[in-house]
Amino acid sequence: MRLVVAITGASGALYGLRFLEACQRLGIETELIISKNSERVLELELEKTAADLHRLATRHYSPDDLEAPPSSGSHPIDGMVVIPCSMKTLGEIANGISHDLITRAADVTLKQNRRLVLVPRETPLSQIHLENMAKLRRAGAIILPAAPAFYIKPEKITDLVDFIVGRVLEMFGIDHDLYPRWAGVGD
Ligand SMILES: Cc1cc2nc3c(=O)[nH]c(=O)nc-3n(C[C@H](O)[C@H](O)[C@H](O)COP(=O)(O)O)c2cc1C
Repeated sequence: MRLVVAITGASGALYGLRFLEACQRLGIETELIISKNSERVLELELEKTAADLHRLATRHYSPDDLEAPPSSGSHPIDGMVVIPCSMKTLGEIANGISHDLITRAADVTLKQNRRLVLVPRETPLSQIHLENMAKLRRAGAIILPAAPAFYIKPEKITDLVDFIVGRVLEMFGIDHDLYPRWAGVGD
């Protein structure tokens, strides 16, 4: 299994970090692209640099490198995740604006009919955001909002984050033990 992973400048950089760590543990190859704008969020929220996250990926590319392999449909990948996904990047993908490697790779993922999972974090949502999401869903993308469940009885922030990371992995049929599965309320 090989995934393109993009981290963009929405709040929730920890989702991207924990996703990369989970992939590393599970032996999933990752090709990481970190947007320029997300570097500030990484610094503010995690006190980390792009280089720190690059170390968790199998390969990494600059978002400016439109000649990198994920730009082509001939590059063999199983799918792509944008985690977290800003409304700006989501809007660009929804409208086919492939101006950098992240938006180009997402465009290619859709045209190749591969799985594209977007993890937006914004609230409240404007009509423009909602229309872009609906358009993407019609095009085959999965919109998986960073909206963790509380029935897992989280004790730490990472419990909440890992719930979303687990949900993303499930979209690719990847088994994991990141959170306890709901098994009913019992007796
Ligand atoms: C601290 C910080 C938090 C942000 N949080 C969000 C957010 O939660 N959702 C969002 O859509 N944009 C958020 N933004 C705005 C994006 O970073 C901005 O729209 C940027 O242009 C996104 O570019 P990118 O998608 O290329 O990374 C935030 C910006 C900063 C500086």
